[in-house]
This record gives sequence, C-alpha cells and structure tokens, in this order.
Amino acid sequence: MDGTLVIAPIGELHTMQGPPGPRKGTAMRETGRLHNAGLAVRDGCVVATGEADEIVRSFPGWPRLSAEGRLVTPGLVDCHTHIVWGGGRPDEFGGGSRGETYEEIAKAGGGILSTMRATRAASVKELTDGILRRAETTLACGTTALEIKVSYGLSLRGCKKELDAVAAARKRLRQRSIVTFMGAHALPPGYGRGRFLSLLESRLIPMAAAHPARPQFNDVFCEEGAFTREESERVLQAGIDHGLTPKVHSDEFKVLGGTETACRLGGASADHLLVSGDEQIKALAESNTVAVTLPGVAFYLNKPYANARKMVDSNCAVAVGTDWNPGSSMVCALPFAMGLAVARMGLTPEEALCAVTINAAAALRPRPDLEPKAGRDELPQELGTLVPGAPADFCIWPCESLEDLLYQYAFIRPESVFIAGRNQLLKLFRETWRRMDEAVREVASWSKGERQ
Ligand code: NIG
Ligand code: FE
Repeated sequence: MDGTLVIAPIGELHTMQGPPGPRKGTAMRETGRLHNAGLAVRDGCVVATGEADEIVRSFPGWPRLSAEGRLVTPGLVDCHTHIVWGGGRPDEFGGGSRGETYEEIAKAGGGILSTMRATRAASVKELTDGILRRAETTLACGTTALEIKVSYGLSLRGCKKELDAVAAARKRLRQRSIVTFMGAHALPPGYGRGRFLSLLESRLIPMAAAHPARPQFNDVFCEEGAFTREESERVLQAGIDHGLTPKVHSDEFKVLGGTETACRLGGASADHLLVSGDEQIKALAESNTVAVTLPGVAFYLNKPYANARKMVDSNCAVAVGTDWNPGSSMVCALPFAMGLAVARMGLTPEEALCAVTINAAAALRPRPDLEPKAGRDELPQELGTLVPGAPADFCIWPCESLEDLLYQYAFIRPESVFIAGRNQLLKLFRETWRRMDEAVREVASWSKGERQ
C-alpha cells in the first residue's frame, strides 16, 4: 500500500511516550523504551507502536523493513545552530594553547566580527550552498529538524542577504527547519551602542519579521562585551512587538541576568548557561523556558561545562544542541553532543535522548500569542516523539541500545534517517552515487577520446 511502512522487528525503540514537552526533572527519564518492537507509518505519520508481532499482524500487507537487533529513536532535533556563515576561523582554534581566550580574540576584532566580515563578503548563493551542505552533514548524523540562526550580517544589507539565503535554502532542505533572527549578536564597528540598538528596533527586527525566511524567534547575546541585560531586554521586547518569540544567549562567561529576563518574557529558551547559578536555575525551573545546554562550546573553548545535572535535579527542562558555528563549536553531530552531555554534564542516557528530541522541540516552540508579519511557522506538535500522530521522523542506528549509541558517541552515524516516513539518507546517497557515476563516465569518455 502506498505511503505505508512497518518497521519490525526493532531491537530497541524509544517512543518518548508521555505528556507533551517540555519534559522537566525526573520526567526526562521517560523515553518509552520498548524491546522487540514495531512501528507502523502511514502518510508520513506514526500510526502505531507496540510489540513486533502485534504490529505486523495489525497491518497486513504493508511493506516491511527489519531493524532487528538495532536501535530506533525519534529523529534528532538540533535546537541551536548558526549554520549561515561565510569564511572560517581555523586560526582561532586552540587559542587557549597560545594563551588567548575567546573573549580576548573577540576584543581584538576577531571572533564574531571576523565572521561578520566574511559573511558580508559572501554571495547569497555561497551562503545558500553553505547552509545546504552543513544541513546535509547534520542529516547524516541523525538530525531531522534544526534551528537556523541568522547571526553574522549585523547590518541591514548583511542580515537581509543571510535571510535571502535561508529562504532559498529552506526550499531545498531535506530536514524540517525553523529560523531565528539574531541581529544582536555583537556590536558591529562604526556604531555607537545607542545607534545600533535603534537600528535593531527600527529597521533590522521589523525587516526580519516580514521576511519570507519567516523567522519566529529573536535572539540576543547577553554578555560582557556584547549586550547588557537592559539592552537585551530592549532587543527582546522589540522582537515581541514584531511577533518574534525571545531566545537568549546567556550565562556563557558572566551572569548578567539574561536568563531571568528570557524566563520573564516567556522566552522559548535560554542557551549556553555555563556559569548559571542557583537563581538562574530557579528561574528556569519555575518557567516554561527550556534550558539549552551546548556542551560542544565548553569542549571547544576549554571552559567548564553547564551544570545540566543540577538543572535536571532542580526540575528544569534541559535540552542539548550543537551550536554549530565557526568560532565556538565545530560540533555538527548531536550524538557527539549527547556523549558530552553524559560524560561531562552528568545526564543519564535517557535524559540525553530527551534533551535532543522532545525538549529540543520544545525549545523551538514560538509563543502561541505571537505572530510575525510574514506569518507563523511551526514544527509539528508531536515532533521529537514517535507516538501515534507524530511525524514519522526517526533514525535506525547500527547499535543495540541507547547506552550503546552513547558509548560510540564520537563516530556513530545512523544507517537510515526517515523524515515523514521517507528514507532521506538513501536519497542523499543515491544523489552522491549519481554524481560520482556521472564523473566516472565523463572521465571514461575522455580516455576514449570522446571529449568534445
Ligand atoms: O553561540 N556566544 C555567542 N555566539 C555564538 C558564537 C559565535 C561565534 O563565535 O562565531 C555561540 O557560541
Ligand atoms: Fe549560539
């Protein structure tokens, strides 16, 4: 039957069954683990999960794929990426070994401003190709939905070009995506603070909210050397006035109050949180703002990790993202971030899975009362789960259990990645093979002297 599929038997399946996200505290351990399971899919959505034989019996005649002895999880959701960028900063990598910190590099005009220059110099096509290339890399690592931040243009022209590239890329992207505008990533040279804040309020944020790339979130870097708490609140309020839900980069190096501000303004998430203390954790626990941890940054910059263990124990909803960007996290693979979450931040394997599925999806939910001028854009309600009605986005992993996946964190890749019930990896490989095949034929024709 067209559009139908049964995956059975499955060695170990995690459905994330339970109340909708965000999942807080001990609820983060409930992943709906089933052994010898089956999963039925129709028209891009999950119809049923259960015991393998029962699923096979209930859906006779449906095409069947075996995942015997293997792990099936919901598709992974990357809730924090900056994959729109030009150039690169390999010269900054390992700055610590030369005695330079990330903050010092930034102060000297490198860091974000260096990527700003390269992004402004890139064409829309170069940026579009970069987004597609990076998204495909994450797909091969199991990411089926991702956030895309527009964060390096830092001028009307620069931001518009990034948004144009995002709009173009989204038409061709295999994954589900949702966009965040982050005009307030750094203070660009040539502006006083007041002038840039006015520009954000009067031009950049209104332009973004009306752009066909349809950003839903407005993010700010609340940090020493970037924006103060008061300035961050101004930026977030301007976003709210234009229908954009707040998000914040906060407590990365210094506690300035950005986390509490995001919680108070109904922000979808507060991200980084390396140095968050009791008050910040309490504010997160008492709100629906998701605590997004990005262990790839602590790894890259050699900083102490966010205290995710304490956050879960204090009843926060914790998510994990890659923060893939050219200057503080070269991590594109969520399994690697999950491995760091377990080995360095003290999460259990179940909590780590929850953090990259249902809670990551919750970090990407716009505030229901807000609507930007270009319209609302939402990821499916049940994203990050495999309960009936959820999108049939899932990964088949070449390992037996969740624990095994985490154990192989550094190199494991899914063997199949389904989005809306279709195997995207096969398509990706087929295209690569077709291109290789064409190249081989072309070279063969040269050697036969057929080149025209
Ligand atoms: O999320 N911390 C601020 N912004 C980015 C890094 C951007 C960069 O260094 O290019 C982050 O880590
Ligand atoms: Fe970031």
